[in-house]
Amino acid sequence: MTWFAPYPLFLVRGEGTRVQDADGRWYEDMIANYGALAHGHNHPALVGAVTGQMARGTALGSPVPLQYEHAERLRALNPSLERVRYCNSGTEATMWAVRTARAYTGRDLIVKIDGGYHGTHEWGQVNAFFAPHRTVPPHLPGVPEGRLASGVALSAAADVVAIPYNDVPTATAVLRQLGEQVAAVVVEPVLGVGGGVPSAPGYIAALQRLTRETGALLVLDECATLRLGPWQVKHGVVPDLTTHSKIIGGGLPLGAFGGREDVMALFDPSEPHPIYHASAFGGNCLSLAAGTAALDHFGAAEIAHLNFLGDRLRRGLNTAAASVGVAGRSVGEGGLSYFHFGNTPPRDAADTARLRAGREGLRSLLHLSLLNAGFLTAPHGLLCQHVPTAPASVDALVDAYVNALDDLRPYIAVHHPELLEADPVGTRQDAP
Ligand SMILES: Cc1ncc(COP(=O)(O)O)c(C=O)c1O
Repeated sequence: MTWFAPYPLFLVRGEGTRVQDADGRWYEDMIANYGALAHGHNHPALVGAVTGQMARGTALGSPVPLQYEHAERLRALNPSLERVRYCNSGTEATMWAVRTARAYTGRDLIVKIDGGYHGTHEWGQVNAFFAPHRTVPPHLPGVPEGRLASGVALSAAADVVAIPYNDVPTATAVLRQLGEQVAAVVVEPVLGVGGGVPSAPGYIAALQRLTRETGALLVLDECATLRLGPWQVKHGVVPDLTTHSKIIGGGLPLGAFGGREDVMALFDPSEPHPIYHASAFGGNCLSLAAGTAALDHFGAAEIAHLNFLGDRLRRGLNTAAASVGVAGRSVGEGGLSYFHFGNTPPRDAADTARLRAGREGLRSLLHLSLLNAGFLTAPHGLLCQHVPTAPASVDALVDAYVNALDDLRPYIAVHHPELLEADPVGTRQDAP
């Protein structure tokens, strides 16, 4: 994820909204550690919380009050977390949520989104966005084939059915046919790595109805979208289970999963055969102290500012591309944005793949041009800001896109002339 040709930047420090590379150059940070940070680097309250806790102990090998302190703040943001448990990462949070759903339903099958990203465990690397190492036939006609990342066991695909994002008819057909075997439908409310695709209005609610009909659980992966508010609160959907990570750790590794009390009761160690949850550093004091301080500085004003910056950036980038006559669109929701070449916003990961196909060189040149202009952005197009990011920095990034796209016009004219024509991509028009 962090490698790019000809060689990646090595960064040596972060200060506020800027980062410095090993050659001493400073960049405005427009990735925020792939959306995992919200408060900039070296925020005094977070530094204070971590150094203070370091002196008191990092992992005490017991339950700690900090778990409750953090959970109270997290639940204030996301009331669907009637019970919450801690782990070390988003990968672990989604792994645990699915295990919880399997224990609760007694079923094995998971329905996930084609191109959905939930981390690096086995099922998460089936139909993830990346180019597959091998493929297996689809479970049902009309759904994508199983695509496995390198090193993932073939057996992992047996328990995973991938469905296209934003496609209610396919979700309905799959759940009506396989519903009695399905433990969980796992979904991101904004398809992140799959291209920053927002869910269409009513899509997540439709998945919720289908899971209720079939007795499966809806697992909403909000690891990336807590920065929106979280998404489920903004849109009034209450899933059975939710996963959070990234900004909840205030810059340190922390994952959380939780939801319905009756489901989470399966972890009760005083009952026979609880779900066995062990982890040497899960819910450790240092991450919880940093995360608690971070959530103390993540209220309505901070969330509104991040969403304001994201909206401003996407509007600016769409105008920027139009102003230089290059087909380009910025998509996403709130403080989570992506930039794609092409005129039509993607509706699912297959659209994103089409928008990117054959354009690796162009995307790399854009990324390197932005670096030269002093902006750290993600090679795959992700753009995230920090709470202390000023609107003027977002406007300066938009100007840097105008200059980069303008400089690239001669290259685009030779290699991608379709991007200089009106609506060249031919993907669907009804995307969200
Ligand atoms: C939606 C989502 N789920 C899960 C993960 C995995 O989180 P981690 O990298 O902490 O394992 C990510 C990370 O990018 C994510 O965006």
